[in-house]
Amino acid sequence: MDTQQRFDDKVVVITGAGSGLGRSYALEFARRGAKVVVNDLGGDVTGGGKSSAAADAVVQKIKASGGEALASYDSVEDGDAIIQAALDHYGRVDVLVNNAGILRDSSFKNMSDKDWDLVYRVHLLGSYKVTKAAWPHMLEQGYGRIVNTASGAGLYGSFGQANYSAVKMALVGLTNTLAVEGAAKGIQANVIAPAAGSRLTETVFPTEVVSALKPEFITPLVVNLCSESCKESGGLFELGAGWMAKVRWQRSMGVNFDVKAGFSAEDVAESWGEICNFSEFDNPTNISESLTPLLKNVGISF
Ligand SMILES: NC(=O)c1ccc[n+]([C@@H]2O[C@H](COP(=O)([O-])OP(=O)(O)OC[C@H]3O[C@@H](n4cnc5c(N)ncnc54)[C@H](O)[C@@H]3O)[C@@H](O)[C@H]2O)c1
Repeated sequence: MDTQQRFDDKVVVITGAGSGLGRSYALEFARRGAKVVVNDLGGDVTGGGKSSAAADAVVQKIKASGGEALASYDSVEDGDAIIQAALDHYGRVDVLVNNAGILRDSSFKNMSDKDWDLVYRVHLLGSYKVTKAAWPHMLEQGYGRIVNTASGAGLYGSFGQANYSAVKMALVGLTNTLAVEGAAKGIQANVIAPAAGSRLTETVFPTEVVSALKPEFITPLVVNLCSESCKESGGLFELGAGWMAKVRWQRSMGVNFDVKAGFSAEDVAESWGEICNFSEFDNPTNISESLTPLLKNVGISF
């Protein structure tokens, strides 16, 4: 496998590549022949400050091993500058990994507007801005691979992370639509919910867990999703500690109320068990499959 998934002549942009997961991705893509744009603002975990040191250190390490890399110190909020750097130096962008992240945890009761805004700006607005800048170039060349970074906090909820959960789940929605719009254009988008020891998680996980869950255990899946041979798009993957799995929507078969006769809140309450019964289920994979049973209930077939 090591020899198959090569990235020679591919330009890979990784945001937040100065530490943790992004750093591991950058080193591995470079090892596999990519020209890597190592983007990192170099601030602290809560979004304060900036420094060129983190990105520079990764670029130096790549170059010391004979690889090709360029440092970018812009915030992901200035996504066009990051993509422009890739275009100016390497002439194209083939792969984008939206990975930059911060945390500003607080119970919802105590969460400030600043906590909400900063987390939104780095994770969701930032991913949007960098992707929006890369998208026309991917469309034009008929090729692109995008990996966005969600979180189990978004998929399942996590006390003290309302801001983070909201934007991480929004990235699942963004990825779904990028996959739909990119399908005919050679652009594939997927999203991961990783678990790894890093400066972000050292405040949450015990030390033993932080050191056991190496960022390097996430990297092989990300490399796979970004390879030319990968056919996957619109996928959501949960992974960490060497375990990885695909996640999909599952819904109960539902209840069909008679729209002509009408139905009330009491009818809904009476059918609650059936509405929530997963002994049979389906797994819609697109908006059309999602709407089919609804429309059927009013006699429309799709
Ligand atoms: N580590 C985990 O268990 C875990 C779990 C779920 C999701 N994630 C996500 O994975 C991604 C990577 O996190 P990590 O754990 O490696 O943390 P990390 O703190 O080691 O890495 C994040 C990097 O992003 C950079 N960054 C922050 N704001 C930026 C901005 N505005 N512009 C550019 N760079 C910026 C930071 O300087 C840092 O180097 C994040 O999106 C995080 O939310 C991580």
